Amino acid sequence: MAAIEVRGLVKTYGALRAVDDVSFSVAEGEFFGIIGPNGAGKTTVLELVEGLRAPDSGEIRVLGQKVRPRNAALMPRIGVQLQASSFFERLTAREQIRTFAALYDVSTARADAWLERVGLVEKAGTRVEDLSGGQAQRLSIACALVHDPELVFLDEPTASLDPQARHNLWDLLRGIQHAGRTVVLTTHYMEEAEALCERIALMDQGRILELDSPRALIERLGVESLDDVFLELTGRAYRT
Ligand SMILES: Nc1ncnc2c1ncn2[C@@H]1O[C@H](COP(=O)(O)OP(=O)(O)OP(=O)(O)O)[C@@H](O)[C@H]1O
Ligand SMILES: [Mg+2]
Repeated sequence: MAAIEVRGLVKTYGALRAVDDVSFSVAEGEFFGIIGPNGAGKTTVLELVEGLRAPDSGEIRVLGQKVRPRNAALMPRIGVQLQASSFFERLTAREQIRTFAALYDVSTARADAWLERVGLVEKAGTRVEDLSGGQAQRLSIACALVHDPELVFLDEPTASLDPQARHNLWDLLRGIQHAGRTVVLTTHYMEEAEALCERIALMDQGRILELDSPRALIERLGVESLDDVFLELTGRAYRT
């Protein structure tokens, strides 16, 4: 069974087709990336698949189930990190992760272990408002992973991380995949997509231009890099 099946997905905002006939599937245990410039439709696709938005049309199956109306049975099986972090107000980092853990019957010991895994032990007593952007982002990733979900959605998880934190997160995500989980992420970093993703969907203006392994795309188009793949397909530069 596929972890995700999407067929003919459409989402419009007035005259804008933010997602324009998108179809793809993600295998169980796969590391899948959605790549594309600002406004390509990456976040909208993720939020549709997560069941957070209703599509105009199209079919979505996640772990074999429908995502809407909101499917409570899926919640413990998926982890979601949104592009804009959202936390419970005025709690410390430790209180946040423990609160997320409690929602899923995860022990405080396991919750605290996640703070360590994302390098936030020193910030455990700091309120979320006082974390730096990258620290808040790491906390939000830990909160998405604390219940060890089968399928994880991460929307630009490394966007505000420094190079060391970014590579730490790459290792962490690889470990999750090696433990048999499915990972779907968006990124603007082509080298990140090449380093992590088995397959990528390259999106532009609501559509998937190409979907394949980074290596296969580069070879098929006879270019040097994923940046060049984008340039070749759209005539526009994409530099990261
Ligand atoms: N709630 C909304 N109302 C109106 N337009 C929206 C809404 N959400 C998204 N859009 C539009 O849909 C398009 C796709 O947006 P989306 O956030 O999915 O892009 P993205 O690929 O995630 O971009 P980024 O790289 O900047 O995160 C954009 O043109 C955006 O302005
Ligand atoms: Mg986005």
